[in-house]
Amino acid sequence: MLNSIQIQLDEVIAGARQVIIDIKDDNGVIVGVLQPLTMEHLGSEYIIKMLTDWRNQNMENFLTQFIATPERTRQWMQDVLFQARGQMLFLVYAQNNLIGHFGFKNLTSQSVLLDNVIRGERIGHPKVFVFAGKALVRWLQVTALVKTIYGEVMTNNITSIMMNKQIGFSGWKRHPLVKVVSGIETCWELGVEGDLSPDGKYCFKLLIE
Ligand SMILES: CC(C)(COP(=O)(O)OP(=O)(O)OC[C@H]1O[C@@H](n2cnc3c(N)ncnc32)[C@H](O)[C@@H]1OP(=O)(O)O)[C@@H](O)C(=O)NCCC(=O)NCCS
Repeated sequence: MLNSIQIQLDEVIAGARQVIIDIKDDNGVIVGVLQPLTMEHLGSEYIIKMLTDWRNQNMENFLTQFIATPERTRQWMQDVLFQARGQMLFLVYAQNNLIGHFGFKNLTSQSVLLDNVIRGERIGHPKVFVFAGKALVRWLQVTALVKTIYGEVMTNNITSIMMNKQIGFSGWKRHPLVKVVSGIETCWELGVEGDLSPDGKYCFKLLIE
């Protein structure tokens, strides 16, 4: 099953298959769309600049922290995002404007991690990211037939916590974060639930079943 999904993801990334997911409000009105980032976007300086700027503006909220540059973003798209199995990043559009992104990774036949969400611009419906998250969850349940959808959010990230609650996540298991510095990159690794963090930093693990 996962292999057939992977073939579809590969086709989408290569530009051979189109996926556009409508983002609908509670009344079913379309308020935006999710469109996968594909190889074609490697040639878009605008999109690469947007991804880079948004990442730098929101570095503190991510478990892997570094100074992004357009070169590094392009390299990451090419070598990681488009190569990894079970991973995809969707651009979020509202009112025909690119306003952010929302992705998933670690897709298996059982589960997936919702990942890498940033609202870069405040254009569009106030709850467009809640609706985008719900649309992505539904798409993963219907297309990839996953049973469990995971999320991870730092315990001090109020907006993300509020968004994830409204998307439908529950669980809220608190894990300590352990700082690992390598060169110019800082990684916060998840420890065992209930343990203490040496840096006083924690992350919630969430799920939708
Ligand atoms: C996470 C993110 C995509 C959510 O986008 P959003 O849904 O448009 O966020 P909002 O600014 O509308 O805030 C979400 C909610 O938090 C509430 N909120 C914000 N600050 C708050 C505070 N200090 N106390 C209580 N609630 C607060 C808002 O009122 C809103 O609630 P509502 O939906 O009931 O009105 C966006 O905040 C973002 O890009 N954050 C930076 C990147 C990031 O943290 N990504 C997640 C990594 S896990």
